[in-house]
Amino acid sequence: TVFGEGLKSAEIVFVGEQPGDKEDLAGKPFVGPAGRVFDEGLDAAGIDRRLAFVTNAVKHFKWEARGKRRIHQKPNAAELAACRPWLDAELEAVRPKVLVALGATASQSLLGRQFRVTKDRGRPVESNLAPYVIATVHPSSILRQRTDEERQAAMDDFVADLRVVAELLAQV
Ligand code: URA
Repeated sequence: TVFGEGLKSAEIVFVGEQPGDKEDLAGKPFVGPAGRVFDEGLDAAGIDRRLAFVTNAVKHFKWEARGKRRIHQKPNAAELAACRPWLDAELEAVRPKVLVALGATASQSLLGRQFRVTKDRGRPVESNLAPYVIATVHPSSILRQRTDEERQAAMDDFVADLRVVAELLAQV
């Protein structure tokens, strides 16, 4: 089980989808390739990860064997629902001022199935989960871009969303 990591006094909570291979081995969220993109985005936006609480909508790595590799599988609605009490308990313990959903799985789990990251990213949305709730893409979607140009553009958009997060933090 990979629970969240960070300070109980954190003013910001980031929620990803589920731990990946590296996270499962380390027992910590966002420490693999997606974690490196996440850290790069935070650095560029001037957000100190050590002051944030970082967690996932689902607490276990779901995978399928392909040779010796463990390939990520998307969690289903039942798995999201099963982990929700732990996510709620984390939010209840930390009570962040800003809650950030990373990608469609976390966004739809927190904000409803109708939520569209592509349409609604980068601006605060109405929710009783925290004073400010905002969604952006999942860092691994940046890694999946096909060309360097597309990767750079996706990274720039991710950083722009994180700068909005940094501004919200400064307001509350
Ligand atoms: N992807 C996630 O959604 N969470 C992690 O912790 C790592 C990769």
